[in-house]
Amino acid sequence: MQPLIAPSILSADFLRLGEQLEQLQEADWLHLDIMDGHFVPNISFGPDLVRQIHQASPLPLDVHLMMADPDRYLSAFREAGARCISVHAEATVHLHRTVQAIRELGAEASVALNPATPLEAVRWVLGDVQQVLLMTVNPGFGGQPFLHSVVPKIRTLARWREQEGYSFRIQVDGGIDEMTLPVAREAGADFFVIGSALFDRRFKGPGAALQHFRQVAAGAAERGPADP
Ligand code: DX5
Ligand code: ZN
Repeated sequence: MQPLIAPSILSADFLRLGEQLEQLQEADWLHLDIMDGHFVPNISFGPDLVRQIHQASPLPLDVHLMMADPDRYLSAFREAGARCISVHAEATVHLHRTVQAIRELGAEASVALNPATPLEAVRWVLGDVQQVLLMTVNPGFGGQPFLHSVVPKIRTLARWREQEGYSFRIQVDGGIDEMTLPVAREAGADFFVIGSALFDRRFKGPGAALQHFRQVAAGAAERGPADP
């Protein structure tokens, strides 16, 4: 699968958001982090800003719900323009039901896992989702270092996908930069959320940074055939 890149708006300059979104029109998706100050120790933004971003950008919106009891907000985020909605397995009691609810709203369903949560938590919904989000940092903040302990998990998930003939995307989120993107790509990830590295001031704006990361992703080797 061709590597996909989604800038994480969490690291954008919110006072210049419209201008930054214009520079990011060549991205594949936009990744929007919703934090409730309860499931994660930080608060970000809600459906109103998602709606404004949807009006300002033609890109599909990948909404990452880092919130307790996300079922209450699925329709609000879908109506605001979410194309894909990620819910954490750790935050839901009936994950299959939640996945079904996302799909009934007409959105793509994605299940997210914290670094310490085993893959088995999503094993029996893998046939029902369009994406699995493997957190490569503990959720809540941008700018944290990539956790290399998650790499074997990416590798195992890619093997399951191949063995079972599933087609979900494997998204990695947290600490993705020039050094770690190739590591995750080699392990089997195909969708890269990039926050602080993409909005870094060393680039002449996020558009230039996006081009840079496209080249990094194109140069990174895709994983070979599955291990026996
Ligand atoms: C972390 C968020 C990420 C974050 C990634 O809880 O889910 O999407 O924005 O930021 P970086 O790329 O800086 O780790
Ligand atoms: Zn995220």
